[in-house]
Amino acid sequence: MRDQAIQLREKMTRKKTKPGTRNTRVLAVTSGKGGVGKSNFTLNFALALIEQGKSVLIIDVDLGFANIDILFGHVPQQTIAGMLDKELSIQEVIEKGPLGLQLIAGGQGFSGLLEISADKMKHFMEQLGSLQGQVDFVLLDTGAGLSENNMRFLLAADEVLLVTTPEPTSVTDAYSVVKVMHAKDSDLAIRLVVNQCTDGKEGQQTAMNFTKVAGNFLDKDIRTLGILPSDLHVPQAVKMQQPFLLAHPNSAASKALRTLTAEYLEMPSPFKIGLRGFVMKLFFK
Ligand SMILES: Nc1ncnc2c1ncn2[C@@H]1O[C@H](COP(=O)(O)OP(=O)(O)O)[C@@H](O)[C@H]1O
Ligand SMILES: [Mg+2]
Repeated sequence: MRDQAIQLREKMTRKKTKPGTRNTRVLAVTSGKGGVGKSNFTLNFALALIEQGKSVLIIDVDLGFANIDILFGHVPQQTIAGMLDKELSIQEVIEKGPLGLQLIAGGQGFSGLLEISADKMKHFMEQLGSLQGQVDFVLLDTGAGLSENNMRFLLAADEVLLVTTPEPTSVTDAYSVVKVMHAKDSDLAIRLVVNQCTDGKEGQQTAMNFTKVAGNFLDKDIRTLGILPSDLHVPQAVKMQQPFLLAHPNSAASKALRTLTAEYLEMPSPFKIGLRGFVMKLFFK
């Protein structure tokens, strides 16, 4: 098993991205507390990126509450679990969503990711690695909190988007995630999204306090990615099983998300290792 792993790592390292092909950035969306809006953010941010000319694949790796597919009324035919068990290619498990969004449902496939056999690991790495350069962004909708699986995804990503609401419980739990991630990798790029804000002032205040505390106590530079309002169009769209960006394109939440996305694309890229690096880091740290 160990020898096979080492051989695989060497093989993956040799495969450099060809000049001219695009990089694939891996962003992990996470939170301390559940129910803050991660999945809605992931789905609608993905769609806003597509509207702005990017191609996006979402991988739903929330083990307990994988539900991105429900948010756009889609029943996935295949999951990562199926890919590993039936030796399917990644193309066979990619589902198509609105605007050409691509989605891979995690299912239970990721629950034992750290314990899968060497053969399955090889298949997983080759399949996921084959998407390098095929899409601009891979967004991982992770679970909340600090499970070992979750930490692996966060630490292997190019960038972590940390979602919180202004509620003190959500903020405190988000801070715990930062503390643990920072202890394991002080260079990890983390950006903060404050969701469900009553108004801009509340969002700004929450973001300012958070980034200040992280700066003062951890010497960690966390940038704010954006502030999103609390908007009844979001739960309305959830009930219709449609992404709010498409169901209510002129709502306050949609407008704020489009602005956030445009600003995100203007920011310098913290691109580190891309998809193939992500796949390797996931298993070999
Ligand atoms: N900006 C928002 N305004 C109002 N409600 C929101 C907003 N974002 C999310 N919600 C609501 O919060 C709930 C949880 O959202 P979800 O995306 O499933 O969270 P998570 O993935 O973090 O568990 C949903 O019922 C959704 O309608
Ligand atoms: Mg979720």
